Amino acid sequence: MDPRYWPLYGLRIRTPRPELRLPELELLDDLASVAVGGVHAPDSLPFTVPWTDSAPDERGRGVFQHVLGSIANWSARDGVLSLAVLHEGKLVERQDLGAADFAVTGEVNTGSRLGPAHQGQGIGTEMRAAVLHPAFAGLGARTAASSAMTDNPRSPGVSRRLGCLPDGLQVAALRGAPVTLQRLRFDRERREAHRTVDVRIEGLDACREDFGG
Ligand SMILES: CC(C)(COP(=O)(O)OP(=O)(O)OC[C@H]1O[C@@H](n2cnc3c(N)ncnc32)[C@H](O)[C@@H]1OP(=O)(O)O)[C@@H](O)C(=O)NCCC(=O)NCCS
Repeated sequence: MDPRYWPLYGLRIRTPRPELRLPELELLDDLASVAVGGVHAPDSLPFTVPWTDSAPDERGRGVFQHVLGSIANWSARDGVLSLAVLHEGKLVERQDLGAADFAVTGEVNTGSRLGPAHQGQGIGTEMRAAVLHPAFAGLGARTAASSAMTDNPRSPGVSRRLGCLPDGLQVAALRGAPVTLQRLRFDRERREAHRTVDVRIEGLDACREDFGG
């Protein structure tokens, strides 16, 4: 596809292993299928929105619609870039980069998920490092934040490995009950001091306007 009307489709972010890109229809269908197969153990829920509670087909449809909606509704003011993550030519799941009023706040946030077969092998660290690179190196982000349930050690594991520091706790409502999340955050200097993943970007210049640059 020629990305002239939607430059974000020309964005490619590569690390030694995964490649990240905005999903076109075929990859959206694959993302839905991964969601149908399940992305976490049935007895745990790592997300503050219980979207995995629904029946498998409904979940797949929901993911398709949600990601397609994030593409259609993208704006520099309040957008979430949901990127498909590919490893060895196969979809392994999704890495989100979000921001509200990025041009003013200079802050981005991230959300990550990997299919169970791909967890615990360092891919989560590479894909988070990948999505943060254009934010800091290309778009001038000043800080990046993420949060994870206090009973989910993997996500903060990625954050710590990249140099994030604890940034307090927050409480959210999940299925009518309170859950506690650990916030983590880092700034440009801290990120630079902890950079271990080699990241290459293609197509960023054409996207600057999409990020309010
Ligand atoms: C969170 C997620 C993206 C992390 O990706 P990953 O590839 O599994 O993580 P990595 O292999 O890169 O590991 C990163 C760090 O976490 C640590 N870690 C991984 N699994 C862990 C576990 N079960 N318990 C404690 N630490 C763990 C690793 O040891 C590593 O730290 P280290 O380098 O200091 O040893 C992935 O596990 C996932 O998608 N989980 C399900 C969905 C989810 O929880 N999403 C986040 C919601 S906020």
